[in-house]
Amino acid sequence: MSVAADAQVSPPQPLALLDRWLSDACATDAPAARSVAFVTVGDEGQPTARTVSLKRLEDDALIFTSALWTRKAREIAENPRVALLFHWPTLGRQVHVAGQATLTERALARELFAERALSHQLQTLVSRQGEPIDDIAPLRSRHAHLLEAMEAPPECPPDWGAISVRPQAVEFWSQAADRLHDRLLYERAGESWSLTRLSP
Ligand SMILES: Cc1cc2nc3c(=O)[nH]c(=O)nc-3n(C[C@H](O)[C@H](O)[C@H](O)COP(=O)(O)O)c2cc1C
Repeated sequence: MSVAADAQVSPPQPLALLDRWLSDACATDAPAARSVAFVTVGDEGQPTARTVSLKRLEDDALIFTSALWTRKAREIAENPRVALLFHWPTLGRQVHVAGQATLTERALARELFAERALSHQLQTLVSRQGEPIDDIAPLRSRHAHLLEAMEAPPECPPDWGAISVRPQAVEFWSQAADRLHDRLLYERAGESWSLTRLSP
């Protein structure tokens, strides 16, 4: 369904429409359907982008996980204003989210850590993501050793967590063959959302 058609039946909440688009992407095996570019801003106003994996879509928040010593976590602590960008090329769709990021409660971090494959849990333990290293071999060897030796899955480390983004504005973009693409912008307006159609 195009965003124009969607607009006729647009849910009052943008994340309900995002949920529908995510389902479409997953149902059509769109590559990396839940991967999303995540942009933070450093203390000198320098933006940084990286890819993260959407773990949960709540009624009013997008959730992903991260180590908490990382650049993204540091930048969010300084400036919670962030952006997220989904792109599903095979569907000709894009969604841009601007909002505020916060750390979630520990219970959710523990729950999401427990859902990770053991190999991913151990990666978190052996690698201080983002810190300079001389050689990756010692990390590989420690990872392989732990995979062999661990008898039970590790606990969620205290410096690993879940990040929640509460959207302030969400724009849906849908490609049209004549290049007159559909754009629909939701903006938070108190307890509800305003809807504006944008020129392509
Ligand atoms: C497809 C894909 C998914 C990723 N998912 C995550 C993720 O969910 N959380 C995360 O912290 N890093 C994820 N990464 C790694 C980040 O892109 C990034 O390299 C890392 O988080 C360090 O970013 P930072 O130094 O800016 O904090 C992913 C990378 C790719 C390519």
